[in-house]
Amino acid sequence: MKKILENIKILDFTHVWYGPYTTMMLAELGAEVTKVEPPWGTIGRMGPGELHHGTSTTFYALNLNKKGISMDLKNPEVKEMIKELVKQSDVVIQNFAPGTMERLGLGYDVLKEWNPKIIYAALSGFGQTGPYSRYGSYAVIAEAISGHTYSTGKGINIDHPPVTMAGAMGDLGPAMYAAFSIMAAIRYRDQTGEGQMIDCAQIDTMVAFNCCASVAYDLIGESPIQRRAQRPRDPQRIWGVLPVKDGWIQIAGERGKAIENLKQELGVDEVNKDLVLEKIKDMTKMEAFKWLADLGFPCAPIYEAYEAMSDPHLEARDMWVEVEHKVAGKYMIPNFPVKFSKSPGEVNRAAPMLGEHTRMVLKEKLGKTDEELDALEKQGAIVQWKG
Ligand SMILES: CC(C)(COP(=O)(O)OP(=O)(O)OC[C@H]1O[C@@H](n2cnc3c(N)ncnc32)[C@H](O)[C@@H]1OP(=O)(O)O)[C@@H](O)C(=O)NCCC(=O)NCCS
Repeated sequence: MKKILENIKILDFTHVWYGPYTTMMLAELGAEVTKVEPPWGTIGRMGPGELHHGTSTTFYALNLNKKGISMDLKNPEVKEMIKELVKQSDVVIQNFAPGTMERLGLGYDVLKEWNPKIIYAALSGFGQTGPYSRYGSYAVIAEAISGHTYSTGKGINIDHPPVTMAGAMGDLGPAMYAAFSIMAAIRYRDQTGEGQMIDCAQIDTMVAFNCCASVAYDLIGESPIQRRAQRPRDPQRIWGVLPVKDGWIQIAGERGKAIENLKQELGVDEVNKDLVLEKIKDMTKMEAFKWLADLGFPCAPIYEAYEAMSDPHLEARDMWVEVEHKVAGKYMIPNFPVKFSKSPGEVNRAAPMLGEHTRMVLKEKLGKTDEELDALEKQGAIVQWKG
């Protein structure tokens, strides 16, 4: 079946979380992603996450469907090869600190001379311009400066100190914006024949995700947290995290027809949180979830991430696939989550070994001979995984 991004070639210099997640989404939609790593391996191989067979579990999760090549970008012969690869590419993407690609001689100004149609996505913490531009960043940094860390803590209770968000949302959220912007730039290029540079900063995109808080402040002069402190919600509304026999459920109970159904079910004129708590205290989270969801309440069991791997609904939605890695063996991974009726995404390959496809790519794309590649390998300019 034809893939929606078939024939889109991406030269991927991304190294840790934010960048690799962006290119993985595009690879799962069928783009050909060639991941370039230094001979010593990208920092994304070392963390975050536990090491398994010498590589971070996060690396196994964020580099599906990619080919891996390993080259020393500071080597002049490699630079010549990169030039040729850029000429053959639609998109170049990197998430180094601003200035790093320029020092390597691979800034947008250089690459657009080599290929004027190139779409160059520079992913960073604070952006390519502005007073903080040169500062390094990880997810937690963008979460903090955009207001999310503060409100996560205050979401527990109003006096609670800020709390770091779980799940690296300061990487994954910006990655969605980056992938979406690359798609938009491809459309523009297809219509005009022109490439362009995309400057996608974690700070900007995380601020964009916090738009409801900033608009509320601008319009009514108080933040959602201040508003909650001054006008607390009714503690009896059927809302929030509720304990059950084996854990917790989450309920968002402000749905009129669900409340009417619950009244009928219990044969009472009024319902409140205490009534619900009493009814569910001896239920499992699945029993409570199904009872309340069948009554019409938006509701869910609160899972630890691994519990989602055996949820029957997610199984029915085809959300888990198994891939086989050359060294780590078989592992389960979420499938491309969005369903297309004509051109579905798919996961078809585990993360690459360091330099797994170096020779294959350089032969196929640049016509390099074994002798040339032997010489490059001998001087440490490229690395080929030997198995
Ligand atoms: C994450 C971050 C803080 C890491 O900082 P860092 O490890 O110092 O990495 P940098 O991006 O500054 O630079 C990478 C280095 O590896 C080198 N390098 C990378 N790939 C290479 C290759 N294939 N061959 C040779 N050298 C390579 C670069 O030249 C650079 O070295 P230099 O500083 O001597 O020029 C920084 O990259 C950053 O802020 N990125 C943007 C925000 C982001 O995406 N954060 C990660 C979210 S999890």
